[in-house]
Amino acid sequence: MTKNEMTGLLQPWIGRIADEGLREKVVEVFLTAFERSAWKSEKALSAMPFTLLTDCRGITFLQHTLAVTAGAVGLAEAMRTHSPGLPFEIDMDRLIAGGLLHDVGKILEIEPDGRGGYRKSRSGMCMRHPISGAALAYELGLPLELINCIGCHAKEGDGRPQTVETILIHQADFATFDPLVMLQKETLIR
Ligand SMILES: [Fe+2]
Repeated sequence: MTKNEMTGLLQPWIGRIADEGLREKVVEVFLTAFERSAWKSEKALSAMPFTLLTDCRGITFLQHTLAVTAGAVGLAEAMRTHSPGLPFEIDMDRLIAGGLLHDVGKILEIEPDGRGGYRKSRSGMCMRHPISGAALAYELGLPLELINCIGCHAKEGDGRPQTVETILIHQADFATFDPLVMLQKETLIR
């Protein structure tokens, strides 16, 4: 996959990162994950489900990634608009980059099972996606605060120090995940 093709998959949010160097780095992390993964085409990656933990009901990894980024940005804008005295800064570039990258390790964690389905890969057996994603981003030189967004966005971050961007990404992530889990357990009231 080319850099342009990967950038296209991450639109519109990748284009909203103001820092060009950071934008390039985010694409580089995605491309490196893709090259090291079992996904052999843009089409295959685009069809990848966002989790194996519950029935995704057709929601893909890329759709989830963009939805979580949009959700985290929405939460940040709500706080900024309605809490003018917010006692901390929210770094929008870090938030968007973190939203896009939070699950990048899933590209390594999940693989096709060869029968039209999906399964956990060897990488997935050895580490969950927050660890593989954080390791990859660290290897490629992303800022430590962004590593926090990736490594601490899920249960690995429970009770640990987090940036505010990590907290917003975590909340947006579980807002998209929990209803699907509850739907499967028949605890979602409809
Ligand atoms: Fe996620």
